[in-house]
Amino acid sequence: MKDQTAPHSQHQASDAERSVTASGNNLANSRKVFVKTYGCQMNVYDSQRMADSLAAEGYVTTDSADDADMVLINTCHIREKASEKLYSALGRLRNMKNKRQADGKDLIIGVAGCVAQAEGDEILRRSPTVDLVVGPQTYHRLPQALAQVREGRQVVDTEYAVEDKFEHLPAASREQVRKRGVSAFLTVQEGCDKFCTFCVVPYTRGSEVSRSVAQIVNEATKLVQAGVRELTLLGQNVNGWHGAGDDGREWGLGELLYRLAEIPGIARLRYTTSHPRDMDDTLINAHRDLDILMPYLHLPVQAGSDRILKAMNRKHKGEDYIRLIERIRAVRPDMALSGDFIVGFPGETDEDFEDTMRLVRSVRYAQAYSFKYSSRPGTPGADLPDHVEESVKDERLQRLQALLSEQQYAFQDSLVGTEMDVLLEKPGRFEGQMIGRSPWLIPVIIDNEQGEVGDIIRVRVISTGTNSLVAEKLG
Ligand code: 5AD
Ligand code: SF4
Repeated sequence: MKDQTAPHSQHQASDAERSVTASGNNLANSRKVFVKTYGCQMNVYDSQRMADSLAAEGYVTTDSADDADMVLINTCHIREKASEKLYSALGRLRNMKNKRQADGKDLIIGVAGCVAQAEGDEILRRSPTVDLVVGPQTYHRLPQALAQVREGRQVVDTEYAVEDKFEHLPAASREQVRKRGVSAFLTVQEGCDKFCTFCVVPYTRGSEVSRSVAQIVNEATKLVQAGVRELTLLGQNVNGWHGAGDDGREWGLGELLYRLAEIPGIARLRYTTSHPRDMDDTLINAHRDLDILMPYLHLPVQAGSDRILKAMNRKHKGEDYIRLIERIRAVRPDMALSGDFIVGFPGETDEDFEDTMRLVRSVRYAQAYSFKYSSRPGTPGADLPDHVEESVKDERLQRLQALLSEQQYAFQDSLVGTEMDVLLEKPGRFEGQMIGRSPWLIPVIIDNEQGEVGDIIRVRVISTGTNSLVAEKLG
């Protein structure tokens, strides 16, 4: 942990505050933290973990910076646009902090996540009002870093030892599950060794590390005991997870899923995000054997042209991906596919792009994310020749998104008239209405529903809304 520059007098904790922080958290109950999350589900999960660890320091969460004593921005570095969001947010917070200080109060500003990891000290140089920079692998040291901030220092804490990656914070309590809902994330793996040439993740999140079976089963059991019904296993390359199994053999994600399915009370399992090269036979067969493994798979392919896939270092061809999807659908015919696509990777010609369109038509996605290539400093892609013009990227993105939306609506329409199990998640907007989650993630609206949050009920789909289904309860 690095201690930066001269003390910030505004954070000098009074003796009273310091003694309360040290001895417990009662007085500090009035402190509020606003955590703003950008980026992926891993960041959503990390934000919750940071909030949990700050709760132990007496911070309650709030939904707005206006009444917060501390603002923590959990950042994303994946594309330039995502990264720049930090600096516009910091501009607004600087004004807020200046106003507070003019009134003799203060606002602690913290930056977490992948921009924090990538830029470290540079953030303090660009935005001197920032008090704390903390990287994704050092969140377990957040309370100590905060204690230093409260003593008036600026702190940058981004250096970690690989074995510390899963020095984890306490699992969610029943109260937190009540607030956050019956579907929860659980990190099983972090980092990526795939080095796709466009991607910053191997640099910001570091090399692949898997959590042990015991740690995962323990956290999953606690979450289920606290009321969670659906668990989504998270990892930047989740199906690269591996570890020593209970039976002494080396396990992959497939074996882990079979093990987690044994936890009493667990109703649904998912995992994200996967790489096509790590979909092994056991994992595919888990989709055949485990009813509680939901028939929805986020399996990014990025592009359809073999030339571009090679330049991206994806290490497979378009055809390999299509064959893989066929194998998965053979064991689980109701499997819905989701994907990520990049248009305008350096050197992508019209013909290459048509290969992407062909692949999409052949796979038929239920859902997908698509992006214009964004050159990221430090990645091999940034040094490639033949960067594609912005207007060409725009046009390709529009065409791809039109096709993907068409497929998304076709998928939703295909569900009308079918029966499915729905996990009730929260009350709807209207009296007597409940919102549930279908096996394919699409929210389902059910009128006149008396069930409890966490129940799984059988419904028939009557119609589709925008990104939702409307259904009636059966039996
Ligand atoms: N430019 C555009 N999209 C990117 N992604 C990752 N890096 C970049 C980049 N440099 C996309 C990929 C990935 C998703 C999380 O973000 O599609 O799967
Ligand atoms: Fe990035 Fe590729 Fe790793 Fe996914 S598999 S995180 S796109 S390097």
